[in-house]
Amino acid sequence: MVTATAHPNFALIKYWGKASDKLNLPAAGSISVTVDKFVTRTSVRFNPKLEQDVIYLNNKKVQRQHSKRIRFFLDLVREMAEDQRFAEVHSFNNFPTAAGLSSSSAGFAALALSASRAAGLNLGSSDLSVLARRGSGSAARSIHGGFVELLFGNREDGRDSRARPIGGKGFWPICIMIAITAKSPKDISSRDGMRLTSRTSPYYQSWIKSTQTDLPEMRTAILARDITKVGELTERSCLRMHGAMLSADPGIIYWNGGTLSVIEAVRDLRAQGYPVYFTIDAGPQVKIICEQASKSVVEAALKSCAGVVQLIATRPGGAARLVRNEA
Ligand code: PMV
Repeated sequence: MVTATAHPNFALIKYWGKASDKLNLPAAGSISVTVDKFVTRTSVRFNPKLEQDVIYLNNKKVQRQHSKRIRFFLDLVREMAEDQRFAEVHSFNNFPTAAGLSSSSAGFAALALSASRAAGLNLGSSDLSVLARRGSGSAARSIHGGFVELLFGNREDGRDSRARPIGGKGFWPICIMIAITAKSPKDISSRDGMRLTSRTSPYYQSWIKSTQTDLPEMRTAILARDITKVGELTERSCLRMHGAMLSADPGIIYWNGGTLSVIEAVRDLRAQGYPVYFTIDAGPQVKIICEQASKSVVEAALKSCAGVVQLIATRPGGAARLVRNEA
């Protein structure tokens, strides 16, 4: 049994749209921050006696019709390791799954590390990131801690679309606050939402183009630890991504009333002079970034926001890592 942990990451410059569905290649690069506190812990054992993969999430057996993506991912590992055995997988999240908290990024990063080791492979972080990307684009970034960039890559086989660190866990200990406004799973998966957006939004090409120009600016802003620039670029990328989703046909709306009240509170805080910025992924939760010095003011303001059911303060977290290897 091999066990690995990984943390989810939140994109500052978002990825929304694929260059290839088959290879799960993004249409543009992206930049994120891996967060502490939230964690996925996954154990894998390949067993010659099994006649199919058996998968448990938070101690509940996942029905075959819901485990297609995981079984496809295990097939990739089996192919790489030239191993025919099926696997037993136990995965635990200490946070809500499929609710816009990037559970798939932590999930596939932890699975890439634990399954590849359990199959006898010893992949470096670059190859692990490419493998994790096949499960979920954002998972490529959770192989690393801190601030991370997922490269678009030039190769047709996708082997150079991998993540690389910009600044590790301790590089810039900003405060990342998560305002949970609903805990139920989302209605439309990222995969389906991306497909619909790329096929039907008249703004899709402009969205991809604007991401390409945002990436070098964000890299520079992170390296300069410039909260204002990082925050402005973060909000802009978020709103443009949601703009592209809203203009799909039919339009995709992941937000709820709580999402809007948090946006308003963040803008109020800014009007009072605090450098506080928001970002939102494929779900109604709002992630807020600010300096540690503003943490208590931000916390107090967001706690009283209508629709916020839970507020969690965290900071940049570490890389995916092995915690037990009994293979
Ligand atoms: O890789 P996925 O399928 O989890 O999609 C990620 C989509 C966003 O979270 C909205 C943006 C991103 O870059 O993480």
